[in-house]
Amino acid sequence: MALIAFEQLSISFNDGDGQDECRRIQAVRDVSFSIEPGQTLGLVGESGCGKSVTAMALMGLLPRPDATVDGGSIRFAGQDLLALRPRQMTDLRGNALSMIFQEPMTALNPVLTIGEQLMEPLIRHRGESPRVAWQQSITLIGEVGLARAESLMRSYPHQLSGGMLQRIMIAMAIGCRPQLLIADEPTTALDVTVQAQILALLRQQTRRNHMALMLITHDLGVIAQMAQHVVVMYAGRVVEQGPTRQILARPLHPYTRGLIASRPVPGQRRKRLYSIPGQVPYLAALPAGCAFAGRCDQVTERCRQSVPPLIGDQRRQSACFLTPLTATQGDACHE
Ligand SMILES: Nc1ncnc2c1ncn2[C@@H]1O[C@H](COP(=O)(O)OP(=O)(O)OP(=O)(O)O)[C@@H](O)[C@H]1O
Ligand SMILES: [Mg+2]
Repeated sequence: MALIAFEQLSISFNDGDGQDECRRIQAVRDVSFSIEPGQTLGLVGESGCGKSVTAMALMGLLPRPDATVDGGSIRFAGQDLLALRPRQMTDLRGNALSMIFQEPMTALNPVLTIGEQLMEPLIRHRGESPRVAWQQSITLIGEVGLARAESLMRSYPHQLSGGMLQRIMIAMAIGCRPQLLIADEPTTALDVTVQAQILALLRQQTRRNHMALMLITHDLGVIAQMAQHVVVMYAGRVVEQGPTRQILARPLHPYTRGLIASRPVPGQRRKRLYSIPGQVPYLAALPAGCAFAGRCDQVTERCRQSVPPLIGDQRRQSACFLTPLTATQGDACHE
């Protein structure tokens, strides 16, 4: 059984302009994909495509009352997270399901020491005594590759560098040995050398603890290094998904092809880096057909009239009228 299964999840927001109360932003539409135990899944797409909203829904952190779940479910080991009481969700969050955020400085409490923040989930979820939680926190600091653990425990967030803080965030997130860790753009705020170290640490931790990782990023290079499976989102929908090697070698959706073409490849000289023309449409006023139609170089009349369904099998899917049915099925057989 999948560890996490999103099934036809749809989420909308109040438009918030105060003029038209009925207008809603369709942030996530009919999203279905699953994460296997121990698997690293990459979630990619341009800014505003619904990646973080999908993650927040899983963690029970959608901003209420602005956000509404319009349909679908998110199953964790079979149980629907959207049907849980807030108390039950609090028990899972930071425990079996954990998340690290893009900006470590804003995610940590500036007036509490690193030690207090590391110990808190261990005391709350695991029922450890402060003495045991202190010892376990020291071990965790070592596990994420930081030295001088005793002195770090007594430090405040502002005394640490960005890279150190992100390591502390990872230590906090893995403290209760989660089955799933969500990392939302975990390296975007860090410089390149520190980025590589943090990715290596995440890879080491997922392997060592057989932890599933949902890695949200704009960076297909990161996906290539880290993820076994990729889900590509565009304007709130899944437009393509499949095993990373297949997606990168033979993308089926024109949007995925555009993302791959706009990625800088080390050692490859190009006069100008490709960029997908245009931008993601405004989600409160999506066109009738395929949301990518306005930017697609292979658009047909049919694309402007109806939304292409996601076709394929469980492993490889694409939502484009140009995707030959046999392409997705054939791929699945070869992997
Ligand atoms: N609190 C909110 N209120 C209203 N609309 C929101 C809110 N949060 C998200 N949205 C809408 O949902 C859409 C998806 O947002 P989301 O944060 O999931 O994008 P994303 O794919 O994570 O982008 P990024 O790569 O920039 O982080 C946004 O385009 C925005 O219109
Ligand atoms: Mg985001």
